[in-house]
Amino acid sequence: MKKIVDDVLKSKKFSRLGKSYIESIVDDIYDSENLSNKKVYKIFLKKVKEFLHKTYSVYQISNASKKDSIMESMINSKSDAELVKLHLEMLHCHSSTRERKEFYEEVYEKIFDKIKKPKRILDMGCGLNAFSLPFIGFENFEYIGMDVGKEDTKLINSYLKLSKKLYNFVGKGIEVNVFDDNYLKKIPRGKFDVCFLFKMADVLDYNGNHKNTEEFVKKVNSKNVIVSFPTRTISNRKMNNPRRKWFELMVRRLKYKFNYFEVENECFYIVKKI
Ligand SMILES: C[S@@+](CC[C@H](N)C(=O)[O-])C[C@H]1O[C@@H](n2cnc3c(N)ncnc32)[C@H](O)[C@@H]1O
Repeated sequence: MKKIVDDVLKSKKFSRLGKSYIESIVDDIYDSENLSNKKVYKIFLKKVKEFLHKTYSVYQISNASKKDSIMESMINSKSDAELVKLHLEMLHCHSSTRERKEFYEEVYEKIFDKIKKPKRILDMGCGLNAFSLPFIGFENFEYIGMDVGKEDTKLINSYLKLSKKLYNFVGKGIEVNVFDDNYLKKIPRGKFDVCFLFKMADVLDYNGNHKNTEEFVKKVNSKNVIVSFPTRTISNRKMNNPRRKWFELMVRRLKYKFNYFEVENECFYIVKKI
């Protein structure tokens, strides 16, 4: 076990993940193969890396030092204009926030046109979304961002200390593994006004059915859940009909209400549970 975890961590693209997360993925994927056989070991290692690539590193654009140096500049910046520029640079470091960075104001306007301004926001599989919060259009709220990236969680925590002073919102970054059976218990207690589940259904439903997304939407202690999906295919072709029929059927079956809107590259469901 130790050898395979070390071998995975040797790859730069996985080095910001926590050891215990890699261990749990190795455990999940392991199917009584004989790992003392070199060839079998190599195939198994490839399987683990493939999984981590498809669910994690495919979204990472910049190396760690770039994100850390942007954060450092934010801490030292005295100019509002420079801070905006640094936020956009940070959003550029993750593929999901990069695609959305020119549209954040529009996205947040459309969401908060339909629901009340929240005091408590949960963001599951947040990536670098915390850095979009200055574009949300209001202040004085608490934000909890949860993701598997150990180092990015630390980065978010540093940012959410600075944000109190700069933009009057507070919060926390928390490491989580959505493939862990008990991951919902890691969510801080109490009710949230809104939960973001941006482009996370494909990760949650990696195993091919939609059970995990359904379980999350049902169980998360939030009045509203905002679920987004890409509107481009993996080969970057615009989808003719990006609406997810399975999701709409699921929401109706659960007797929740929803609103739908699209922006460039992404469609959103505003799901109201009450
Ligand atoms: C498509 S990105 C979406 C990021 C963010 N929600 C956004 O839209 O800006 C998927 C996110 O899932 C996270 N992820 C991958 N595996 C995970 C796991 N096992 N547990 C929690 N998050 C995970 C990745 O680190 C990545 O940030």
